[in-house]
Amino acid sequence: LRHVLDHLISIDQVDKDRAGEIFATADEMAATLSPRTRLTMLADRVIALLFFEPSSRTILSFHAAAARLGAAVIEHRGVESSSLSKGESIEDTIRVVGAYADLIVLRHEQAGVAARAAAVSPVPLINGGDGHNEHPTQALIDLYTIRQELGRLDGLHVGMGFDPRHSRSIHSLCRGLSHYSDNEVLLVGPRELWLPPEQEKELLARGLAVSQTEDPQRLLECEVVYVNRFQEERIADAQAARAFRERYCIAAADLEGSRVALLLDPLPRVHEIAIDVDELPQAAYFRQAANGIPIRMALLSLLA
Ligand code: NCD
Repeated sequence: LRHVLDHLISIDQVDKDRAGEIFATADEMAATLSPRTRLTMLADRVIALLFFEPSSRTILSFHAAAARLGAAVIEHRGVESSSLSKGESIEDTIRVVGAYADLIVLRHEQAGVAARAAAVSPVPLINGGDGHNEHPTQALIDLYTIRQELGRLDGLHVGMGFDPRHSRSIHSLCRGLSHYSDNEVLLVGPRELWLPPEQEKELLARGLAVSQTEDPQRLLECEVVYVNRFQEERIADAQAARAFRERYCIAAADLEGSRVALLLDPLPRVHEIAIDVDELPQAAYFRQAANGIPIRMALLSLLA
């Protein structure tokens, strides 16, 4: 992968063949997790985790993946403790950290920062989420999980809610699904949180049959349902967004007799899935989170 990809900024860079290579490597990595096998392939590497926005899964699974490959990790959590708070530019930070580490994973609240950082990075840089824009490693986890649970990545009818406008996980997964054939996506949420028309058109132009609705009941017609919390930190009127919570929530009773074979959520879960769903066979979100380890091990081993 390294010979074709220096940085991973957008899922657009990962076509079907490249995704296939990542998934095959993730399968190999998964095999080393049980029974536990000690790997040393990155023993001479240092991985930098620069997380300037809150994170649990992404930072911890990258850290754990690096540890399982034998790499050392240096990290920043939050802007306050970093020189960004003194006014340093992201470009200067990346140039410096690029001299300390062999690969950088970056999360930042501003859309487009990952591309700016990659443009000056002397080492491979992975986008760990840039504002409302993209979250390509999450999309790889999501695609890998769908493939694992349903055995295919085409001919899917996927319903996604509930904040298509601000959810970078939804953006990247839509783009990722557009690399496979005959996929149909129904975006569900309050009208003010729909995907802007130009982004919807772009997905249609890529061959993804995308449409939008306010009606959460329509999710129950889909084979795969992918939900993500309202991204309150990116919604101008977060108070108003809280009022949507009641209408946009999936409970176990909703799924009874529905077509839904698989229910995913990049997590954190806040309100969008009721706890009583967790016991259902379709509830795959904790298996999905666990897949963060083999996928991120694969990415680090291929790019570092
Ligand atoms: C997502 C994110 O950070 O975009 N979390 C994650 O990485 N699993 C989803 C979210 O924060 O809602």
